[in-house]
Amino acid sequence: ESTTELDVSAIEPGQAIKAVFRKQPLFVRRLTPEEIAAADAVPIGDLRDPQTLAERTKEGHTDMLITMGVCTHLGCVPLGAAEGENKGEFGGYFCPCHGSHYDTAARIRKGPAPTNLVVPDYEFTTDTTVVVG
Ligand code: FES
Repeated sequence: ESTTELDVSAIEPGQAIKAVFRKQPLFVRRLTPEEIAAADAVPIGDLRDPQTLAERTKEGHTDMLITMGVCTHLGCVPLGAAEGENKGEFGGYFCPCHGSHYDTAARIRKGPAPTNLVVPDYEFTTDTTVVVG
């Protein structure tokens, strides 16, 4: 199976990039302190697919949110990774196909998607290099 190496050094807080992993869209987003605080403020019991931001990121890199850019409802590509796109009611990602809203940890909060955006296997090989897969 192939891996994807990414240089994340140029991603500023509040920005995201779209990459490709195994022919599917991948979102790499550096969260702002406010986005991290918003994710951490959500009671875990309120979540359809209960996971903390810490569980969805790597220790020491909780500001770097790496997920598949594939809605878990029927597979559309959510909006929110590109500048100016609709991030939805919870400030993360919004899938326009049937209206799924994801929060700043890319967790499903409203709409038909059953689960959070998938976090692929990855690791930081340097402070600014991520290898996915
Ligand atoms: Fe995203 Fe249906 S495919 S809401």
